[in-house]
Amino acid sequence: MAKKPREGPAGDAKAGGGMLKPPAELVYEAELKALGEADRDPRPPGWKLSPRAVRAFLCGSETLSIRRKFFGDDTMIERAIVSLSSNRGLMLVGEPGTAKSMISELLAAAISGSSINAIQGTAGTTEDHIKYSWNYALLLAEGPSPRALVPSPLYVAMKEGTLVRFEEITRCPPEIQDTLVSILSEKVMIVPELDGPDRVLHARPGFNVIGTANTRDRGVNEMSSALKRRFNFETVHPIRDLKQEIELVGRECDRLLKEVSAPVTITPQVVELLVSVFQELREGVSREGIQLERPSTVMSTAEAVSVAMAAGLDAFYFDGGALSPRHVVRHLAGAVLKDNPDDLKKLKHYFDVVVKPRSQKEGGPWTEMLEARKSLP
Ligand SMILES: Nc1ncnc2c1ncn2[C@@H]1O[C@H](COP(=O)(O)OP(=O)(O)OP(=O)(O)O)[C@@H](O)[C@H]1O
Ligand SMILES: [Mg+2]
Repeated sequence: MAKKPREGPAGDAKAGGGMLKPPAELVYEAELKALGEADRDPRPPGWKLSPRAVRAFLCGSETLSIRRKFFGDDTMIERAIVSLSSNRGLMLVGEPGTAKSMISELLAAAISGSSINAIQGTAGTTEDHIKYSWNYALLLAEGPSPRALVPSPLYVAMKEGTLVRFEEITRCPPEIQDTLVSILSEKVMIVPELDGPDRVLHARPGFNVIGTANTRDRGVNEMSSALKRRFNFETVHPIRDLKQEIELVGRECDRLLKEVSAPVTITPQVVELLVSVFQELREGVSREGIQLERPSTVMSTAEAVSVAMAAGLDAFYFDGGALSPRHVVRHLAGAVLKDNPDDLKKLKHYFDVVVKPRSQKEGGPWTEMLEARKSLP
């Protein structure tokens, strides 16, 4: 008889059990409940929490035992929260993998209690995806009626007074993005096909839009200035503090591996090595001041977490469960080398001018990393 697989924390956790990626409101259900109960501060109309409690949810609070989720500029988070309580939308822009989507998900979970109401912008997004479409069987049978209308996430947000997330908005053609212009200024959506009160949908208090846009995609479809004026822009920067990034990568890697029932021994030295490699290649300079050529791929924190997880799984399934620099090197090339063969040369150059001297000077994980160089393609 086949052995029953071991259940990991994601499998047996009450919140989100059985989901590959439970939404933030389920993952942090207990924290949101505790914040709501302790919240005595003024709340904007339609909000589930006060701005102070929302900030505590993202940036942590020792008194309420709320864990920090976003590592970076807390004042940027405050400005983002204020924007959402104003009559303008919030646009988070930045390099890939800087946690724009994570921030928007956490803000939506804290402010509206739901983060799944989202539109994914693509080159194929149409006005129907943004506003509403029809159930054609009902439309043919009964003509246009509220029953036949299929609401978009934006429609739902206006009707219920919640936030709607618009992911990768600049991937949509500008004329499609501009559907938002009048909705954001008038806070009204007209459904010309319907008669009576259903013809005009007035947004309820609490409605607003959080957009995310990747600076690398931005040139593809520039936003119109009319739409830009309806958003407050906040730039999310990569984490620059080595200690913060080490803490985050170590924590995320540990969490993700536990979720897939792969408990791996991760030493702080290996996480430090991995994060150092990412930070130095991202910045184009080593901690000794040696100039490096930056790879064309983005060496983001998100990418560092993925490499750490892949290395951890490698260690678990093929090597007895102790993560070593050797596993990191085996998965590093996959992160650095995406479409530009020159990036591999840049990585090898990093081994020559940074890893080798450090191995001679500091030894330990850097020596192990140097020895694993032969596993690069
Ligand atoms: N400053 C940060 N604080 C906390 N987590 C971070 C930070 N930067 C990156 N991360 C990690 O990166 C992961 C991925 O980030 P996310 O997908 O939100 O990035 P993104 O900016 O939306 O990227 P993309 O532009 O590719 O969509 C997060 O879940 C988190 O683990
Ligand atoms: Mg994103």
